[in-house]
Amino acid sequence: MARAKPQYACQECGAVSSKWAGRCEACGAWNSIVEEAAPESAPKGLGKGKGRKVEFVGLPGRSEHLPRTVTGIAEFDRVCGGGLVPGSAILIGGDPGIGKSTLLLQATARLASGLHCAYISGEESIDQIRLRAERLGLARASLDLATATNVRDIVATLDAADGPGVVVIDSIQTMYVDTLESAPGTVAQVRASASEIIRLAKRRGFSVLLVGHVTKDGQIAGPRVLEHMVDTVLYFEGDRGHQFRILRTVKNRFGPTDEIGVFEMTDAGLAEVENPSALFLAERETDVAGSCVFAGLEGTRPMLMEIQSLLSPAAYGTPRRAVVGWDSGRLAMLMAVLETRCGLALGASDVYLNVAGGLKVGEPAADLAVAAALSSAASGSAVPSETVVFGEIGLSGEVRPVSQPDARLKEAAKLGFTRAVVPKRRGTGTKTLKPPAGIDVTEVAHLADLVAMFHPRSGA
Ligand code: TYD
Ligand code: MG
Repeated sequence: MARAKPQYACQECGAVSSKWAGRCEACGAWNSIVEEAAPESAPKGLGKGKGRKVEFVGLPGRSEHLPRTVTGIAEFDRVCGGGLVPGSAILIGGDPGIGKSTLLLQATARLASGLHCAYISGEESIDQIRLRAERLGLARASLDLATATNVRDIVATLDAADGPGVVVIDSIQTMYVDTLESAPGTVAQVRASASEIIRLAKRRGFSVLLVGHVTKDGQIAGPRVLEHMVDTVLYFEGDRGHQFRILRTVKNRFGPTDEIGVFEMTDAGLAEVENPSALFLAERETDVAGSCVFAGLEGTRPMLMEIQSLLSPAAYGTPRRAVVGWDSGRLAMLMAVLETRCGLALGASDVYLNVAGGLKVGEPAADLAVAAALSSAASGSAVPSETVVFGEIGLSGEVRPVSQPDARLKEAAKLGFTRAVVPKRRGTGTKTLKPPAGIDVTEVAHLADLVAMFHPRSGA
């Protein structure tokens, strides 16, 4: 028999090639290609065997809907689309040490009071997990703990009619299938281990939560190849220097994406944050030039956050641009629009921009708030107190409407804000804005209108 040919897989993106290279051609990563044993039998077309007939059914019909398993941690249930779906697989990705194990231990310990739950760890010993449970005040939960890394053992254990209803695998990078030669954590092992466990979950109808670690550059190495195999992908993010943690839905076959759950890391584990806006704005100093409150939207949820900017004369040749929590390319674009369309030159200053609380903003709706923070910093006069700002800015300086202005204004009113700067409605087709009572709305059509609020003479 011919020896199996080796194959080479990129550990960053999962691309497979027949020869080794220093740099992956698919994703451009360096030193990420590792030799792995080829799968035992490569598919060779259909051959001669006869296939079985596939039965069609009509679309209308009755299907059994199993109730979702609700953990009782509202922030977690929300990102899962209202609880765990029996038989589904969920991947939870995030930096090492961000709190994935803590969150899942808390969730399963709560579930365990009414449901058989199992927590299988390949990373920590039973003693370590018990110690953590003690710290979390969950030492008495009737949770089944095990340490295992061989998928054959795990499948043999879980493949029982009276098996658990929810299973945690912490983490998928430590699991291995003994028929493969590659080391645990490689793309081949991660893929094979997950596929065995997910297949069993579908057959036995338990929900499985797979933990996957992320590399420094923000990509899940290995587990990224799982994204298409699982039903739901959640990312746990946050800055380790801050206590806030955000659980974000990236993919969900059973619910909306872009939902977030907000947690706070405390001495006693992760605490739910029911009113994130209040928390993110708690340490805000009012009437400081360069600071602006942005009324943002995370999934279906409005959230207020503070955007801070600082300008200082550049000391050396090229001015610095340092951005935390926002896209630096977007900042460059916004500064160009401010300079070219509104005559506000920032080119000679160092520009620092920060979203307070360690949050990351991805919405274009933050443009107008960033512009307000920059204009305020440049003029030295503060954004009027109790004001929220939102709107997208185009390259000609026009301010464009954004989604759900009413929800944003409602959240602002709830937190006691009295003024809002929002995009001007265009055309006749747009719905009229119904600002909640107590909010005075200023509509701006062009960025120059906003700049003019701070520099009465330099505006258009
Ligand atoms: P962990 O859940 O082990 O992270 P992951 O599984 O994502 O690698 O989180 C560990 C971190 O959380 C560690 O830095 C300590 C911190 N922590 C607390 O601050 N309070 C607590 O009650 C617990 C259990 C952990
Ligand atoms: Mg862990």
